Amino acid sequence: MIIRQLRDTSADAEAVEQVSRAAFRHLAGKPQDDPPDPHQLVRELARAAHLVRHDPGGCWVAEQDGRAIGVALSLRREGLWGLSLLAVLPEAQGRGVGRILLERAGEYGRGCLRGLLCSSADPAAARRYRRAGFTLHPTMQLAGPVDRAGLVDPGDIPVHPGNATQLHLLDSVDRRLRGSAHGPDHAFMLAHYDDLLIADTLAGSGYCYRIGGEVKLLAATSKRIAVRLLREALARVPDGVPALVSHLTAEQEWAVDVGLELGLSLSTSGYLAVRGLRPPAPYVPNPGFL
Ligand SMILES: CC(C)(COP(=O)(O)OP(=O)(O)OC[C@H]1O[C@@H](n2cnc3c(N)ncnc32)[C@H](O)[C@@H]1OP(=O)(O)O)[C@@H](O)C(=O)NCCC(=O)NCCS
Repeated sequence: MIIRQLRDTSADAEAVEQVSRAAFRHLAGKPQDDPPDPHQLVRELARAAHLVRHDPGGCWVAEQDGRAIGVALSLRREGLWGLSLLAVLPEAQGRGVGRILLERAGEYGRGCLRGLLCSSADPAAARRYRRAGFTLHPTMQLAGPVDRAGLVDPGDIPVHPGNATQLHLLDSVDRRLRGSAHGPDHAFMLAHYDDLLIADTLAGSGYCYRIGGEVKLLAATSKRIAVRLLREALARVPDGVPALVSHLTAEQEWAVDVGLELGLSLSTSGYLAVRGLRPPAPYVPNPGFL
């Protein structure tokens, strides 16, 4: 087996996507042969390319006989190390490939006082992350159709669409909540997601990304602002598309209450794994960029 850094080539981005798709479909008990959603495929390839370009030292592949069998994507943002992806082909699991890839990616985070990742419910993943020193916070998710009857009152905090000229505001909110900004990852999210929503008032600020039914990242300086942003994001979910708000630790009860008010179903799924910080709040992480 060879472990090497990923390169910024379409072949390597495709290898990341294929290993990741196979690993997560196996975990979910889904058939391997169904074609991927074309939009999601484009996004996954672009995410791999984005991270390999910005964090080459954090992105690794394990190869056997010239074929990728495992991948890790990680990032470093202002003293925070984040794991964006760890996946091993089902037939290669349980032989230490995940451990070696996590060690390599983790070396990229040396010197970072804080670490963050969203873990799946896979017991092998939980074991790896706890053994790497992360504290595991079990997480919940809210899913299902939005009950629009609960949305008639928009509330009094103004929310408006955001753009690349407001990145300093997003960076300030993130630094306050988690000690580090998302930096270049906003360019990816602005290019690939449907909405960036911003609230900026004398009482506080916050922002939220949405794509389709999914709330991808939400950060705010108060629960009131966070609630308003989440309600606005869910109001924008297209009719007939199920909503999904995931990776919610118990700190995000404000989000649980919004979801329950709007008819979403609550269930448990995976962990938020943290090292050197408490789960940020009010905050909904993005598993790809944390
Ligand atoms: C999580 C994943 C990357 C681990 O890769 P891997 O190569 O199987 O990992 P390793 O073999 O290095 O380690 C797995 C550990 O979990 C243990 N393990 C495996 N299955 C287990 C189970 N059902 N219950 C408890 N422990 C389990 C193994 O014994 C091993 O522990 P050990 O090294 O202390 O003996 C891989 O299983 C995977 O791709 N899962 C699906 C995708 C996923 O969930 N990725 C993580 C997303 S955050």
